[in-house]
Amino acid sequence: MLQGTPARVREFYDHHPISEARVLAALARPGLGPPGPLTADDLFEFDQDHYGGLAAVDILARRAGVGATSRVLDVCAGLGGPARFLASRRGSTVVALELHAGRAGGAARLNRLVHATGVAVVRGDATALPFARGTFDACLSQEALLHIADKPVVLSECHRVLAPGGRIAFSDWIAYPSLGGRERERLREWMAATTLQTLDSYCALLGRAGFAAIEAEDLSAEWRPIVRTRLELNRALGTDGVARFGEQRYLEYDQLHTFFVRLVEDGKLGGGRFTATR
Ligand SMILES: C[S@@+](CC[C@H](N)C(=O)[O-])C[C@H]1O[C@@H](n2cnc3c(N)ncnc32)[C@H](O)[C@@H]1O
Repeated sequence: MLQGTPARVREFYDHHPISEARVLAALARPGLGPPGPLTADDLFEFDQDHYGGLAAVDILARRAGVGATSRVLDVCAGLGGPARFLASRRGSTVVALELHAGRAGGAARLNRLVHATGVAVVRGDATALPFARGTFDACLSQEALLHIADKPVVLSECHRVLAPGGRIAFSDWIAYPSLGGRERERLREWMAATTLQTLDSYCALLGRAGFAAIEAEDLSAEWRPIVRTRLELNRALGTDGVARFGEQRYLEYDQLHTFFVRLVEDGKLGGGRFTATR
């Protein structure tokens, strides 16, 4: 086991509806597979595990000044969807760092499937980045730092691996003061969400990690309808969902997902986007 691996993160993503298997199943559906060889574009509908789709990746990339010569680290990269998007659209060189063995393996296999160039997958823990000081021009991350208890460490690791003048840009779940202790606990147990920050406390942590020119945007209003739509889509799976995950797991997921969406709709939980300079 990697040092500091939260077992709950592993369990949560072992059963997550966005998976390599689901991507491959979607591509295998009659009429969905393209006539020619697969490209990264064919995966984008299925391989992004964050809110706001490709537009959200693009905004982060712009905020971080990512271009064709940028060396980018995608911290907690999931199935590598955002990394492939950046490499194919911006021509950047991207390292996709992911902790979960199945997801890291899936990201590498999907890279091979679409002959992705400019994207390397590294299995590792964001709290102990396996890279030398100053390796990257940009560190990006989406909806992932919520899983990491020691946020000061992950931010100072990003600071360490960025070259001087490099940029960090990430989005994440944030908590509002009305989020209660029991609700936090339930989020931790279900989805390994831990030490949730506010917009202000994230900015303070970035400052303490050594970053300057810190900016934060509240994405809560933007994310609210998206989480509702995702819940409805999962519900629409119906018997398909039961067949895929088993009845107990499917119903449990629906119950917890409903609780989560209620927190978002009640204004207890929201999203934030943060940018800063090394
Ligand atoms: C919501 S997913 C986002 C994936 C990707 N950023 C995307 O937008 O498609 C969060 C990811 O963070 C990964 N993760 C959680 N803790 C991690 C850690 N300590 N180090 C590296 N990856 C981690 C999880 O395994 C999961 O794949």
